[in-house]
Amino acid sequence: NIATNASFLIFGATGDLARRKLFPAIYSLYREGKLAEDFAVIGIARRNKTNEEFRADLYESIQEFCRYKADLNDEWERFAEHFEYKSLDSSNVLGFHELKDLTHTLEQKFNIPGNRLFYLALAPELFGNVSQNLRSGGLLDSSGWHRLIIEKPFGYDLKSAETLNAQIREVFSEDEIYRIDHYLGKEMVQNIEALRFANAFFEPLWNNKHIANIQVTLSETVGVEERGGYYDKSGALRDMGQNHMLQMVTMIAMEPPSRMMPEDIRDEKVKVLRSLRAYASPNEVRQNVVRGQYSEGALKEKQLPAYRQEDSVNPASTTETYFAAKVFVDNFRWAGVPFYVRTGKRLPVKTTEIVVEFKNVPENVYFAKKNVLQPNLLVIRVNPMEGIFIKINTKKSGSEGTIIPIAMEFCQSCEIGHNTPEAYERLINDAARGDSTYFTRWDEVALAWSFVDRIAQAWMEGSSDLYHYPAGSWGPDQAHSLLAEDGFKWWPVN
Ligand code: BG6
Repeated sequence: NIATNASFLIFGATGDLARRKLFPAIYSLYREGKLAEDFAVIGIARRNKTNEEFRADLYESIQEFCRYKADLNDEWERFAEHFEYKSLDSSNVLGFHELKDLTHTLEQKFNIPGNRLFYLALAPELFGNVSQNLRSGGLLDSSGWHRLIIEKPFGYDLKSAETLNAQIREVFSEDEIYRIDHYLGKEMVQNIEALRFANAFFEPLWNNKHIANIQVTLSETVGVEERGGYYDKSGALRDMGQNHMLQMVTMIAMEPPSRMMPEDIRDEKVKVLRSLRAYASPNEVRQNVVRGQYSEGALKEKQLPAYRQEDSVNPASTTETYFAAKVFVDNFRWAGVPFYVRTGKRLPVKTTEIVVEFKNVPENVYFAKKNVLQPNLLVIRVNPMEGIFIKINTKKSGSEGTIIPIAMEFCQSCEIGHNTPEAYERLINDAARGDSTYFTRWDEVALAWSFVDRIAQAWMEGSSDLYHYPAGSWGPDQAHSLLAEDGFKWWPVN
């Protein structure tokens, strides 16, 4: 399980992602013994910084964002010594030659056999150039393995994603590319497989004979914060739908892989993406997808501005901050079962939850007592609460045949508390070990884009209305009608 023997070259080392996620993840891996002493980290960014300044930033980031805290003692010194900073203009190949020399020096110092992991925490426009310069600068000439980790957004649509992919593929092969979708690093997303494939309870029921519908909710209380410039061009569909949301749908819907090996699992996920029913016309998009944007509102008694008033957002923006959709997976297992998905900013709670609603028993024999039976639910709580929750019907204690729903709950986050590894910890560790299971393969990315592009295209042509919802509410009413017309409702979260 130990990822050793590698240099981590982090491009974008002065950015938010490095500070909030990457450095804390590396420190946690180190504290847990998953990173031995034979590693080096080179932080790379444009601005000038000394190693001392870089290590001071590193310390601050860990104090603020890591689940382990550091003390400024010898142990810290030993850890921090593995980190160096390199100022680099990513378009200038000369700097890459210097970077190669620095990497080589650190490899000798820490006894690393030339394994190099390049982490591009950068704007995607730079991926192609940086990849080329890594090669021209001689960074791919070492004797060990070379891997590239890239962050989303992977393109803006299928076409731009193809261009981006072609640029990267000129330098790296598909099996050297690790495309991050941090939701795949989340404990409970990975647990979907265990829940389905290690339990006799669920798998026999996991199909259209027994499941009425599936609901995936990814709700956030935050607005666009300081990311207005990026978000206004992206919107919820591209920011959350194309990646996290569809990935969760594939994990729920996929067939059991023949082995729990990266390519077997990814092959099954691809089949789900191929089976997604494409909306055939803008009118179908209008009928099945609701888009919303938050207007002024309040959350926990705090007044909140409208999306259009946020920094770096066009005051006449029609970008969606919310969408809900009814999606079908057209195969034997799922024929006729709607998957309802929704995500939005400025909703009342921060949560990611998957609800599996089962069909009712064939006959309500408790009808005479005026019981209306509630459906059985399986709720997978992904974030921030982690756990599983099952709703079943039982007789109310002491009553004459009154049936009530009760909950059986396993709360993983309550038991393990804050010690669950963060998604980035797991993913960095996986990439360093060469395990690509929880990274997205190119065909997954491409299929997800072609599904999403049809929706985006219909919206661009203005064929769907944009509904406004007050910040702090559960989104536009039309998202409720989407289920109501099928006789369902969104189950309350949490
Ligand atoms: C990111 C999106 O991918 O995921 C953000 O770009 C979003 O807009 C974030 O806030 C949510 O991630 P998490 O792990 O906090 O649920």
